[in-house]
Amino acid sequence: MIEIRNVQIPNDTRRDVFIPSTRPQTIEASRYTLLPALIDPHVHFRTPGHEHKETWETGVLAAIAGGVTHVLDMPNNYPSCCSLERVLQKKQLIESQLQMADIPLRYGLYLGADRNCFDEIAVSKNEVVALKIYMGSSTGDLLLHDRPSLEKAFQLAAEHQILVAVHAEDEGLIQINRNQYSAVENPQMHSVIRNPNVAAKAVEMAIECAQKFNARLYLVHISSAAELSLIRQAKRDRLSVYAEASPHHLFLSDLAYGHLHTKALVNPPLRARTDVEALWESLQDGTIDTIGTDHAPHTKAEKMQPFGLAPSGFASIELYLALLLNAHHQNKISLKSIIALTHTNVRRIFNLPSNDDCVLVDLEKTKTVTDCSLKTKAKWSPYAGWTLTGWPCFTILKGRVYAV
Ligand code: DOR
Ligand code: ZN
Repeated sequence: MIEIRNVQIPNDTRRDVFIPSTRPQTIEASRYTLLPALIDPHVHFRTPGHEHKETWETGVLAAIAGGVTHVLDMPNNYPSCCSLERVLQKKQLIESQLQMADIPLRYGLYLGADRNCFDEIAVSKNEVVALKIYMGSSTGDLLLHDRPSLEKAFQLAAEHQILVAVHAEDEGLIQINRNQYSAVENPQMHSVIRNPNVAAKAVEMAIECAQKFNARLYLVHISSAAELSLIRQAKRDRLSVYAEASPHHLFLSDLAYGHLHTKALVNPPLRARTDVEALWESLQDGTIDTIGTDHAPHTKAEKMQPFGLAPSGFASIELYLALLLNAHHQNKISLKSIIALTHTNVRRIFNLPSNDDCVLVDLEKTKTVTDCSLKTKAKWSPYAGWTLTGWPCFTILKGRVYAV
């Protein structure tokens, strides 16, 4: 049994909490608050194919450091994870990497949608948490953007009752904009090429497809006011449409190009302050259901290549909770909302079983983020130098306590 003594329960009293375990331990917890462990619905742990950016051995350490005990991993691997065979192979690799780390992280996998592999949807459905469609190109070669293929994918997903997760950026518009600005070398152009209209056009099409086939739709990394209006309307229309926001769209804006240059690249890109503010409002009004990190590690050297070559994405899972707790410290979000966005809603949307995993946080602890203290293999963060108040201190997974 793990005994957590005198711990603060959010919006409630202090209590002693007991968690079944074969490794007895007592934690004197009067300075801590107890939260359910986080479930990150959106990570890229890079296996197979890009193990120089991350593996599950390093990814699991970053997850535990961030109070996360369950991750859902994306299929844009090398080769992409778009068949049952590849899903099963990937699970074997993950199991052996987690064994090396000796941490039994909970995980689920997405199946990549590929027009040449539609038959895989039916046969893989019990092995994956959702079908992932890339309507716009990003890291990897998964892409599905023509209307007939999209409709086929939504139809099959609905028939086999699989959730459809969508990276909503319109590939046609991206190509047009990229050609128009091909001579520009300023990384800031990324936010122009992949502007909010590019995202909103794809969100609109994804919602139309979900409505047509009565599919459940999960829109990942929503970043602009234009997308939020469409999602708000879809929810009013009582469609099964859910939306995720990512930390970088909440905590960074397009001003970050000024100091991060190509390191600021991410898909969808960083947005204007007005979009960032709209996203924060949508956390309050229920338009956004979850926060997924889109933990997308790339090495610093890769990120510092010229615009056009530098890849998109940030490693962020280990700062996920600290960033949110710091926002709580600044009165921007309640603990209740943090729990809903990082745990309860994720569990409901992905139909995940409940468990005893939890995280003890110190709401008063203040620490400055440094690249060298990070567990991710990428070893850099856009938040380096930020001083945050509110940090996870113990993560409890399957009856094991990890001091972080
Ligand atoms: O910025 C991004 N990076 N967006 C994505 O959609 C993919 C991700 C990655 O895997 O690097
Ligand atoms: Zn992603």
